[in-house]
This record gives sequence, C-alpha cells and structure tokens, in this order.
Amino acid sequence: MSGNKTFYITTPIYYPSDKLHIGHSYTTVAADAMARFKKLTGYDVFFLTGTDEHGQKIQRIAQENGMSPKEYVDKIVEWIKDLWKTLDISYDDFIRTTEERHKKCVQQIFKQLYEQGDIYKGEYKGWYCTPCESFWTERQLKDGKCPDCGRDVEIIKEEAYFFKLSKYQDRILKYIQESDFIQPESRKNEMINFIKPGLEDLCVSRTSFDWGIEVPFDPEHVVYVWIDALSNYISALGYKSEDESKFKKYWPADVHLVGKEIVRFHTIIWPIMLMALGLPLPQKVFGHGWLILEGGKMSKSKGNVVDPKILVDRYGVDVIRYFLLREIPFGADGVFSNEALIQRINFDLANDLGNLVNRTLTMVEKYFDGIIPEPTTPEELDEALKQLALAVPARVEGYMDQLKFSDALSEIWKLVGRTNKYIDETMPWVLARDADKKDRLATVLYNLLESIRFIAVLIKPFMPNTPGKIFRQMGVADEKLGTWESIHTWGKLPSGIKIDKGDPIFPRVEMEKEKPQEKAPQQEKQQQDKDMISIEDFAKMDLRVARIIEAEKIEGSDKLLKLQLEVGNEKKQVVSGIAAHYTPQQLIGKKVIYIANLKPAKLFGVKSEGMILAASDKGDKKLSLLTIDRDLESGLKVT
Ligand code: ME8
Ligand code: MG
Repeated sequence: MSGNKTFYITTPIYYPSDKLHIGHSYTTVAADAMARFKKLTGYDVFFLTGTDEHGQKIQRIAQENGMSPKEYVDKIVEWIKDLWKTLDISYDDFIRTTEERHKKCVQQIFKQLYEQGDIYKGEYKGWYCTPCESFWTERQLKDGKCPDCGRDVEIIKEEAYFFKLSKYQDRILKYIQESDFIQPESRKNEMINFIKPGLEDLCVSRTSFDWGIEVPFDPEHVVYVWIDALSNYISALGYKSEDESKFKKYWPADVHLVGKEIVRFHTIIWPIMLMALGLPLPQKVFGHGWLILEGGKMSKSKGNVVDPKILVDRYGVDVIRYFLLREIPFGADGVFSNEALIQRINFDLANDLGNLVNRTLTMVEKYFDGIIPEPTTPEELDEALKQLALAVPARVEGYMDQLKFSDALSEIWKLVGRTNKYIDETMPWVLARDADKKDRLATVLYNLLESIRFIAVLIKPFMPNTPGKIFRQMGVADEKLGTWESIHTWGKLPSGIKIDKGDPIFPRVEMEKEKPQEKAPQQEKQQQDKDMISIEDFAKMDLRVARIIEAEKIEGSDKLLKLQLEVGNEKKQVVSGIAAHYTPQQLIGKKVIYIANLKPAKLFGVKSEGMILAASDKGDKKLSLLTIDRDLESGLKVT
C-alpha cells in the first residue's frame, strides 16, 4: 500500500501519575475512531499514543509509594496498555518518554537548538505550580494562585536554559491567523489573543529535580517537561535516528488531538520548536472539550473519576465508545452521566439498531426459513431507502474530516431510522399473509438486510466489535462485504445464504437497576428484599386518569409521540414511545393512566412531564395502553 495517502494522528502522551479515567479514554477513543475511519477509507495510517513519564510530580508520587520513578511508571503504563486493549485502541506505536529512542532524540533537539542560539542560558525566577507542572509569571497568577487549578504556587529562582519563543512570535501569529491550524475556531482566537501582547522566552530546563532527560552538554540540568513531551510526536517516528523512514513518510502530522487545556502548548511552543528545527508544521491541532462529572471536571488528583474499565465491563466496549463519541459534540464540554448513557443504550442501540437487526433476522427465519431471499420485485418505495444508504458514506466522510464524530454518527442513525421506517411502510407481516406477495416480501427483507450491511460497515470505526456480530448473524463474511468500497454499490449482499440469528446485539438496561458504583454481594441481597414494596411505596406514585387531547409525531424520531393530556383542570405534556403502535388520530380522546409525579425529562429535546402507562412485551413489539373500563372524568386518582 505504499502509494496510498498517509494519515498521521496522535493523542497527548498522558502522565502515568495514576490510572487514567474516562476523560483520557475520550481523547483516545476519538483518535482511534479517526484512525480506523482513515484506514477503512484507504489511507496508510499511523496512530500514536504514549506516556509522558518525567517530572517532579511523578518523582514525588513514586517516592510516596516507596518505588523508584521507573518502577512506578512501569506499573501504571502496563495498566494503561491494558486499558487501551480493553477499549480496542488500534494504535500503531506507544511512545514512552523514558525510552532510549526518545531520550536520544530530545537530547539532539536540545543540542541543535542551543548550538544555533535558540536556546540560551539565563536565570529563571518565577512561580511554579507543582501539580500542574507549569511555570507562571507574576501577571498570569490569579489572586496569587495557579490560574489553572487555583492551588498554591512557589517561587523558584535558579540557573536555567531558555528557549527564544519571542524570536518566532510574529511568524507563529501570522501562521495561526492565516491557516486552519487550530480547531475548533474559537480556540484559535484565544491563542491569537495570548500571543499578541508578546511571548516570553520559555524556561526549558530545571536543576531542582533529576527525574528527566539530562541536558547533554550540562548534566546538572534536566530538560523541562514541554520540550521533552512534545518531541514525542517526532521521536516516535525516528527523527534524528539512523532510520528516519517513518519520519519521512508520515511527518507532518495530520492532526494532534488534545484536550483544550493543552492547546496552548501544542499551538505555540510546538510549532515554534518545529520552525526552529526547520521542519514542516502539523496540519491541525484539535482541542476538544472536557468531560465533566456533575461534581466538576474529572481529575486524577481530585479523585472524582470514572473508571473506564468498570464501565466497559458493565456495558461493553462498543457501547462506551458509541456513547463517548455520540453524546457530546467534539469540541464542546459535556457532562458524563449514567442516565444519559443508559438512554443512549436503550434508545439508539437496543431499540433503534439492535431491534432493527433482530426484527429483520426474525422475519427472514420465519418467512424464508432463514435463507437470504432474492430481490426480484422492486417498487418505487425502495428508492428512498436505497438513495439514502448510498448518500450516507460521503456525508459521514465529510463530518469525519472535520472531526465531527457526533454528527457522523447521527448521520448513520438517520439510515437506521429510515430503515426502521421502511419496515413500517412495507409492513412485511401483512405481505406475508398473501401468497401472491411472496416475491415482494422477499425484496423487502433483502433491502432491509442490505441496509443493515451498509450500517454495519459505517459503524466500524466507532464500534469495532458490533459489525462482526452483525455479519455473523447475517451469515456473510466481512472481508469483501465489509469494505468501504462495497457500500458504494447497493445490492452486493448475496442471496441464498443461511443466516444465523443470535441474541439481540444490544440488551436493554433498566435504569433503576443501575447504581453508579459496583454493588457489593451483601448489597445485592438487600436489593432482592427491596424488590418487594410496601403499600406506602406504592402510595408514593401519583397515578391519575388523563385524557389525551392532542397527539403529534416528533420530528426525527420514529418511536416517539408528543401528547397533550388533560388531567382534571391541568394540562400536561408527555413524550411517549408508542408511535409504532398508535397513530396520533387513534389517540385523541382516549382515557389513559398517567403518572403525575415523575421527574420531568427531555426526550429528543422535547419536555416530558411524566409518563402514561402501557403493557408491552420485551422488545416492544406488542404494546397496549392502559385505559379505564368505565368512563370517568380525568384527574381522578388511581389507588
Ligand atoms: O496533559 N475530559 O497529560 P494528562 C476530556 N502529559 N479529556 C480529558 C479529560 C477530561 N475530563 N481529562 C483528561 C498531559 N483528558 C501531558 C500531555 S502531550 C505532548 C503532553 C485528556 O495525563 C485530554 O486529552 O494530564 C487532555 O488533554 C489529556 O487527557 C491530559 O492528559
Ligand atoms: Mg492534565
């Protein structure tokens, strides 16, 4: 594949000061989805991640744990590599800053910059925040504290080497202003404003600790963190080593993915280092937002972190990856909550996609003995589905090129929704009643399977395990029918193949059963006792007779209806997942049972003040609203 276009993508190299949390996983999963997408679409990809292992903070933590820094980081790095395995991260290389190949490279970079006069010796005087490993000038402090974390800073005065950022400030300003180097756009303006007052030269060595790379010509000094860390992006490619072939092939990087708090280092210090070395600059630095817990930003030092291994263990890797990439527009901050996760599982995955696959395969079993039938009888109606399926890949590619993972996924889910709608439109169970319609039924089921195949290919970069499951259930091999090429043409799915319907690919999760933390076995037992409720528990529910006075579809959802209820002399709005079972007209005037004291929620952006009750089977295939068998006025209590 030597003629292919290359694509080089990186994550930050994380501090192995402690185990990583869901925030670090977020960046890495995003980078992985991008890397997989580019591989799928024919690029020669190099995907780099790693660890940033030097510095005073790690030295101190290791000491507290009674270990040498290297022993300490070795242990954490092993844990991190296992995390990436758990999350199916397909990195091509994992760089550790304690590796010889990295150290040598950094020392040569430092030496070159010194020899050409871009690094010089001076005296450092300033404020240092140890937890953040950041130096601050007097004017950068906020009320005398670290402007990033708000903690105490200490004054430091020592002999040190400096890097002449000031010499390059006009060039970097011009470059940022005139390019799309910094994404998203809002971060670009922040950086412009940061540079405009002028850049101070950067202190790039320390003598107060020794857990770092020695300055080659002055071993009292170790290289201070950012020169060390940032160089990883080229040291891993063999820059300044005997074999620079990877460097020649992949540099400059197509995108450095980073969290917004380190955009400054990546868009000012890093390109200036590269300018000084006479190297081409990366195409793009994308600074994404933070995942926030209800209690504020996650942080290893604050301890309010979500353990990604526990999450994957409980919900599955594809579910977690889907959630991270779908829930929050990349770039913006977003809250990580269990409720939102479970909603995504139940709506997008179990209902929309899982059910589609399961329903379709069930019908193939039932009507065609599990053999993929031949599509001999197309109708006009099929065109809309087919045209959408053929249009989605290019749209997904367009979004991916802008790192809009959430938009890319929602584009794919439009096809999922359209395919579900195709079932409603064609009503295969009705066709099945009529022997003359057998060919048409065959065509409908074929189209459903083909659309599912498109979906399976499209979700590959995001959910690396699900497509294989879908292919296995459809009885077809992934190799030829799972390529990006293969979804440029409709109808590649062969007929005559025996399917192998298994279990639904995404089981639903019951919200009430999900507690945020692992349950101890003892709690599990108490839980069982709790399954019985008292009459007082029951009385907590405010159940009422309600009359449906308006009903309408919700744009973008095939499942949901927006209902207006009359409850005595009050009017309430609820969103109900019954659109597959009732038309709006059928509902007007019905008296139903309404739970009035349920916490309001938002579904598809629409406010829902409670819920109406219905009985249904597991997959919501059969469903009936609860109603009253004598006519009573609305508002009356159910007891
Ligand atoms: O900064 N939400 O390492 P680090 C989203 N070693 N992303 C988050 C996050 C959150 N709550 N928390 C962490 C360092 N991240 C340096 C980098 S690069 C040359 C050196 C992600 O362990 C996000 O990508 O503090 C952030 O930039 C990175 O982890 C910080 O990891
Ligand atoms: Mg950090």
